[in-house]
Amino acid sequence: MNSSVSPAVNDRLDVSKLPGHIAIIMDGNGRWAEKRLMNRIKGHQAGADAVRRIVRTCREIGIPILTLYAFSTENWQRPEIEVTTLMSLLKKFLDSERNEMIENNIRLNAIGQIDKLPEDVRTSLKRTMDLTGKNKGMLLNLALSYGGRAEIVDMTKAIAGKARDGKIDPDSITAEIVADQLYTRGMPDPDLLIRTSGELRISNFLLWQIAYTEIFITDTLWPDFGKDEFIRILIDFQRRERRFGNVR
Ligand code: FPP
Repeated sequence: MNSSVSPAVNDRLDVSKLPGHIAIIMDGNGRWAEKRLMNRIKGHQAGADAVRRIVRTCREIGIPILTLYAFSTENWQRPEIEVTTLMSLLKKFLDSERNEMIENNIRLNAIGQIDKLPEDVRTSLKRTMDLTGKNKGMLLNLALSYGGRAEIVDMTKAIAGKARDGKIDPDSITAEIVADQLYTRGMPDPDLLIRTSGELRISNFLLWQIAYTEIFITDTLWPDFGKDEFIRILIDFQRRERRFGNVR
């Protein structure tokens, strides 16, 4: 299955009990660069390599949905040079990985306020989404200009608009109707949320969707995150008992 991971690690992974949806907060690019006395930009470049590594690993193992927090609504406040670099890395990733996504049956999707992205990024994004739109092997969701609160505001506006137009009775609103107005409509909630670089917070990511998600935080900085650790986290996930608020 996964030849570059040690057999002892691979053997302990139960491929019949994999999470259906994994979400990752990719944190620590800046610290990775600072530790090496490099510019933060170098950290983001190394972070983009880690993205390629983890996408490939998920495809190899058979993870159905991977959602990566690539750029938050708050990230627009970073220095202009850093925002420009992140946008150009994103475009480069979309252009360079397009063929591999097509060959490996990966469908690309984006969640967030996509209209806020620069036009060249939107064009690359649309092209990749169009060309991979029918792929069924894996769904790669990039959270771009994404914020959980903004998503909830957008959902509220959509449902309130329907109520105003008499298309929905407010008393009949259910959790399913809410979920159907989120950017993740039609997708199962994440089973596992991984955050790299040790911070113990959610940072406005998938606020509604992670109600019962198992959380794993690692001190590893995102550019150093690799297959071996990823599989160890999956093994840890498989040992957890999920009760969804119920009793054992
Ligand atoms: C957090 O590190 C990471 C980001 C703000 C962006 C994530 C971007 C990438 C991994 C690279 C490009 C993405 C793709 C999809 C090709 P940080 O800068 O907050 O790190 P720090 O907390 O150590 O400063």
